[in-house]
Amino acid sequence: DLSPLLHRLESYHSRGRTSLLPALHDAQQIYGYIPRVAAEAVGQALNVPLAEIYGVIEFYSLFYSQPVGKTVIHVCNDPACALAGSETLFKQIRFQQEAAPTGNSSSSLTIEMAPCLGLCEHAPAVLVQGQPVARADRQTWQDLVSGRGE
Ligand code: FES
Repeated sequence: DLSPLLHRLESYHSRGRTSLLPALHDAQQIYGYIPRVAAEAVGQALNVPLAEIYGVIEFYSLFYSQPVGKTVIHVCNDPACALAGSETLFKQIRFQQEAAPTGNSSSSLTIEMAPCLGLCEHAPAVLVQGQPVARADRQTWQDLVSGRGE
């Protein structure tokens, strides 16, 4: 159903391509990712070619063109966090997630590496559904899987 997105796009129409990021953010908020029909609707409303829209979606790690898990986790892998162990943490989380049985709560999580989250003084930093978590460790992950982190 495109109507919620079309309704929001009405307010961006007069501002054209300068509204591209907020419009894509709206689409992702509504659908959980940016389906092709939503990308096309944004392009038509703002007069931006579809190829350019997909360029923006691919450039920003917080946009998705495919469905993602119910909870999305970004693990920073820029230098401050990498030195604090973020890559090891990411590998541990991935390993535990892959080892978990299908249907386990961890299977509804999407975990990705991300560039600096602006939390370098609290490395390793993680975003859980856009909410920052400072000094993330294995306990952060265990709390998420058990539902205590939500
Ligand atoms: Fe990780 Fe900046 S380097 S938050």
